[in-house]
Amino acid sequence: MTSSNFEKENMPKPERTKEIFNRKEAHLKIPIEYDVQHSINYFDDIKLNHHAIPEVDLEEIDLTFNFFNKQISAPICISAITGGHPVSKEINKILAKAAEEENIIMSVGSQRIGLEEPSTIDSFNIVREVAPTIPVIGNLGLGQVSSPYFKQEDLNACIDMINADAMAIHLNALHELVQYKGNISYGNFRRNFKKIRGNTKIPLIAKEVGSGINQDVASIIDELGFDGFDVGGAGGTSFAAIESKRNNFDNDKYSRNPADVFREWGIPTPVSIVNVRKASQKLTIATGGLKTGIDIAKSIVLGADIGGFAYKFLKSSWQDRKENTIANTIREIRTLKNELRSSLWLMNLNNLSELKNRREKCVIIGDLYLWLNQK
Ligand SMILES: Cc1cc2nc3c(=O)[nH]c(=O)nc-3n(C[C@H](O)[C@H](O)[C@H](O)COP(=O)(O)O)c2cc1C
Repeated sequence: MTSSNFEKENMPKPERTKEIFNRKEAHLKIPIEYDVQHSINYFDDIKLNHHAIPEVDLEEIDLTFNFFNKQISAPICISAITGGHPVSKEINKILAKAAEEENIIMSVGSQRIGLEEPSTIDSFNIVREVAPTIPVIGNLGLGQVSSPYFKQEDLNACIDMINADAMAIHLNALHELVQYKGNISYGNFRRNFKKIRGNTKIPLIAKEVGSGINQDVASIIDELGFDGFDVGGAGGTSFAAIESKRNNFDNDKYSRNPADVFREWGIPTPVSIVNVRKASQKLTIATGGLKTGIDIAKSIVLGADIGGFAYKFLKSSWQDRKENTIANTIREIRTLKNELRSSLWLMNLNNLSELKNRREKCVIIGDLYLWLNQK
C-alpha cells in the first residue's frame, strides 16, 4: 500500500524508490514470518443452518457469478497484495496465472509505484500478460486520490497498465496513521473523487484494508458514485501489526507504539458487510479474515457477493515461488470452491442467489450478535 506523502517530503527520487522497494518487500515477508493476524475472527460466531436431507445434486450446484459483465467460475477474489518490486512480479505472475486457470478475480496491489517509477510497471502488466480474460482489479490509495496533484491521467495510466476491469481505491487510514510519516491528509478526497468519477468508464470500488466500514461511510461511498465495496473488515491481516514489525516507531516522542496499541482496531468483516447492505445494494466483496469456503458462504448469507482473500494467497504464492510452480495456489482455489459448494449442498441450495442475504439461513451468536444488535 501507499506510504508517506513524498510531494511534501521532497525526498530525492532514488531514495524514495528505494524506500518503497524496501517497504514492498517487508510487507510481503512480515505476514509470512510473523503472526500479524487479528486475534479474533468473528466468522466463528456465524452458524449456517444444516439441512439433514440434501436433495440437490452436489455437482449441479451453480457457483458462477457475473462480475461487471464477466462470468467467473466462483465468487472468489484474490485480493490486492503487491506490485512494484521484482519479487512482486513473480508473486503477481503466479497469482494471475492461477486465477486465469481457475477463472476467478485477480487484484493487484497499489499501483502508485508504477506511476512514480516506470521501471516497475512490468510487475503489474505481467498480470494481463498471463491472465488475458479474467476480471482484473487495479489499485490506488485514498492518499493519492486526495492529493492536490492527483490527475485523471494518473488513474487512466493505472487502468491501462493492466487493462483493468475495475479500479479499487483503498481506504487505509489506520495504516497511514501508524507508519512513519504516513499520508493522513484526505480533505480533498470527495472533491477529487467526484471529478474522476465523471471521467472514468470502468467501475470504481471502495476498498478498506482491514479496519472495516461503518454505515455512515457506506452511505458516503454509495452517494459519491462508487460502483461497489470491498469491506476489508477486521479479523484477518492487521496492517497495524505489520507496521509494528517494521520497527519504524519514533520513541523519543511517545511512550507506546500506536502500531501495537491499534493492532486490533476496526469493525469486524461480518459487521461491515451488514453495514454496507443497510446503505447500498451495490456489488460487495467481503475481505478480512476469510479462511475457508464456509466463510465465503457466511459472507454471502449476510449479503456479500464475493469472498476476497489476501493472506491465504500470499502464503500459497510464496510457497509456489519457492517450488517454481502454481500448484499450491491452484489447490487453494479449488479447495475454496469445494468448501463453498459443499456448504451450499449441506444447506440444500442450488445456487448463490438462494443463499444471498438470507439471514434465516444462519444463526448469529456471541460477540457478533452483540455487535449486530447494538442500539
Ligand atoms: C502483503 C499484503 C499487501 C497488501 N497490499 C495491499 C495494497 O497494496 N492495496 C490494498 O488495497 N490492499 C492491500 N492489502 C490488503 C488486502 O487486500 C486485504 O484487504 C487485507 O489483507 C485483509 O484480507 P486478509 O485477511 O485475507 O489478508 C495487502 C495485504 C497484504 C497481506
